[in-house]
Amino acid sequence: DKLFGVPGCLIEVNPGKVILPPKYQDLGERIYNLNVRPDDVWLVSYPRTGSTWVQEMVWCICNDFKSEASKTISQMRTPLLELTAILANEEGSWKDNFPNSVDQVENMPSPRFIKTHLPWGLLPAQLEQVKPKIIYVARNPKDMCISYYHYCKLIHKLNGSVEEFCELLLDGTAPIGPLWDHILGFWEKRNEPNIQFLKYEDVKKDVRGTIEKMADFLGKSLSEDDIISLMDHVSFKKMRNNPALNLEPLLKLKNGPSFEMNGDSNFIRKGQVGDWKNYMSEDLSQRFDKWMETNLAGTGLHFQTNL
Ligand code: A3P
Repeated sequence: DKLFGVPGCLIEVNPGKVILPPKYQDLGERIYNLNVRPDDVWLVSYPRTGSTWVQEMVWCICNDFKSEASKTISQMRTPLLELTAILANEEGSWKDNFPNSVDQVENMPSPRFIKTHLPWGLLPAQLEQVKPKIIYVARNPKDMCISYYHYCKLIHKLNGSVEEFCELLLDGTAPIGPLWDHILGFWEKRNEPNIQFLKYEDVKKDVRGTIEKMADFLGKSLSEDDIISLMDHVSFKKMRNNPALNLEPLLKLKNGPSFEMNGDSNFIRKGQVGDWKNYMSEDLSQRFDKWMETNLAGTGLHFQTNL
């Protein structure tokens, strides 16, 4: 609350506690009881892991990405399920431009492409039985944290230093809550046939390979031309300049038409592995290393913090 100037609320979830905007309490039950469809495609991630990037690949693999539809902002094509709860913490009528995100998901024609940052324990119970395709994206926590810091400054008026924000993440009190419960909740399920677990660093190393792997997982075949065009469409430069993906329309609604995105004030900001080195002291970096080592011990999961 102190750093964000707006209240958050603690929601009990098994395991642990999750930190969400208070409005979540109105939506949570509807989300938990949502009807899941077998042909849904879900993309789940902790914030700032490259989820918009992978979500765009997924949507484009399953739809005609050269069509007019692809120019629609991503919230309309691949809604963030809990967006309404997040916007409720914001001031101003600009947010009335967005429909209730749960209504939107309920009313979408199939196949639906749904994105969420909620942990497994808060997601619809039917995911267990219906088993639609689920893609989970994770990123090394050092870069994720720095990216999340900039995002919170850009979107949520975070009033704190990088170090203060890092403490929130290390302490499990950053918005959305503890990182390891989130990641490991999906890592444990990674071998289920309807689940794909991706890491940002692997996507970055091999975009083509990721597109091919996702197409295979989603049961789609792509021509060589499609692959080349899609690689171009999801390149950092193209995505950064694409108003359907870079949140520019939302930020202009929120901050006024003269709002300019530049430098770190970009939703699609740097797109690198290792940017944490520009922000973390040696001491802080070592604390992150130790934190990762402790929480990943015995899990078989590893993250690269440099490429
Ligand atoms: P940085 O802030 O480190 O640049 P999410 O979509 O989950 O919020 O993740 C956002 C992060 O993914 C940002 O990281 C953003 O720049 C990065 N990203 C988005 N599109 C990308 C792309 N095409 N290539 C590489 N990174 C991308």
